[in-house]
Amino acid sequence: MDDIKTIKDIVYLISAVFFILGIKKLSAVRTARQGNFLAAVGMFLAVVVTLFDKLQFELIIAGVVLGAGIGLIFAMKVQMTGMPQMVALLNGFGGIASLLVAAAEYNANISTITLDTGITICLSVLIGGVTFTGSLVAFGKLQGIVTEKSVMFPMQHALNLVLIVVTVLLGVLINLEPYFVASLLKSMNLPVLAPETIMLILVVIALLLGILLVIPIGGADMPVVISLLNSYSGIAAATTGFVLENKVLIVTGALVGASGIILTQIMCKSMNRSLMNVLLGGFGQVAGSKSSAGGADIVVKQVGVEETAMLFDSAARVIIVPGYGMAVAQAQHVVRELTELLEKHGSEVKFAIHPVAGRMPGHMNVLLAEANVPYEKLLEMDQINDEFAQTDVALVIGANDVTNPAARHDQSSPIFGMPILNVDKARTVVVVKRSLRAGYAGIDNELYGYPNCLMYLGDAKEAISKLIAEIKSNHA
Ligand code: TAP
Repeated sequence: MDDIKTIKDIVYLISAVFFILGIKKLSAVRTARQGNFLAAVGMFLAVVVTLFDKLQFELIIAGVVLGAGIGLIFAMKVQMTGMPQMVALLNGFGGIASLLVAAAEYNANISTITLDTGITICLSVLIGGVTFTGSLVAFGKLQGIVTEKSVMFPMQHALNLVLIVVTVLLGVLINLEPYFVASLLKSMNLPVLAPETIMLILVVIALLLGILLVIPIGGADMPVVISLLNSYSGIAAATTGFVLENKVLIVTGALVGASGIILTQIMCKSMNRSLMNVLLGGFGQVAGSKSSAGGADIVVKQVGVEETAMLFDSAARVIIVPGYGMAVAQAQHVVRELTELLEKHGSEVKFAIHPVAGRMPGHMNVLLAEANVPYEKLLEMDQINDEFAQTDVALVIGANDVTNPAARHDQSSPIFGMPILNVDKARTVVVVKRSLRAGYAGIDNELYGYPNCLMYLGDAKEAISKLIAEIKSNHA
């Protein structure tokens, strides 16, 4: 028996090493696939060795088949632009799993539970419940099932506070000797709550809190919220690991919790927002009021495909700036084709990747890697920003906010202070988008009125395909 425990602990340790190496490799595009594979191997080892416990295999197999089946269908169906919703659901299921395991553990061992286990059970239930319903609301907002707008009502923050205080009190009740609490309530002629009932109330409050904490946040901030909920799901898993005394669950939970919070911080920093500002809601509303109905105040210069193609004839250096619109149009493959064509005709082509371009971390890297654009062409903002000044054409494809010079000088702008790509420093900027409508932040982009900026309007995939055809016919 002891031998099995030792073997298990060693394998858990090996899995933890795989997870850490996996995360390390995930931090660079070139090694990301390998990182994913290593982490999957770690998880496989952890699952296999856990099955050495005396368990009900019928139930486990049924769970694996059902869960893997549903997961497979979702993973195959999901569009790249729908990934944030998918991640929200995955976090939510992680949260509810932690809640269910912790609550079941409590109900099964009420009379023998020690104080430290009782505290971790309460934390698992609370964090798991908030993660579950919070993630469902986030999913609903992004999917258009729940209103994207911030939902506020009077005394909302006060209500949240009351619920949190009640949760702490219930946690204390649960952790006092449960039957002692029952007899105490009885002696005071108060209704006696069975420990299971207190646990049920705790579960309901945790679920309610998840909804109340996420509904005031506007749909536009959901990616940050999802990253934060991802961190919560990790913390819930780690606390459940303490409940079950399962070391690998503690390690994985802690890794997810820490990486989620670091990612949240990176996203907030790249958007020049504080986490508090995101959690209290309001970004969308401020931003919305700044938009002037599709950039009506800005005088722009529109160009057609012929003029755009001619610009590239004399362009020795080109920087492509992809954004959310490239993802929506699924234009990454034609963008790669354009890159190859320009290089064939002697231009040097690089890509400038803003840390929050698109709608999720690494969004542009993933899309361009999928289209086989070589990794070395993808340069981070800090690496490439100084090069725009020596660039002939900056080709902005479906990016908006990440190129808005207002972020540098307009203190009233909601994106003031956000680091941006210096596309305006290039000799000519060509912007490909469908209209003059605003992007995520809901504000006009003053770049479009700059003398060196040309608007080549159209769907990114169509516009780039036409551009390729035009350049080819010019060189035929
Ligand atoms: P946005 O500022 O959102 O602009 C995207 C532009 O793409 C829109 O203005 C839209 O203009 C255009 N577009 C949409 N569909 C198109 C299509 N089919 N063809 C061509 N253009 C199309 O995107 P961005 O510059 O990538 O900036 C990202 C924004 O998201 C930032 O504000 C960032 O803070 C925020 N954000 C990012 C993340 C992460 S982690 N990436 C997370 C949360 C928030 P038209 O409608 O005129 O076509």
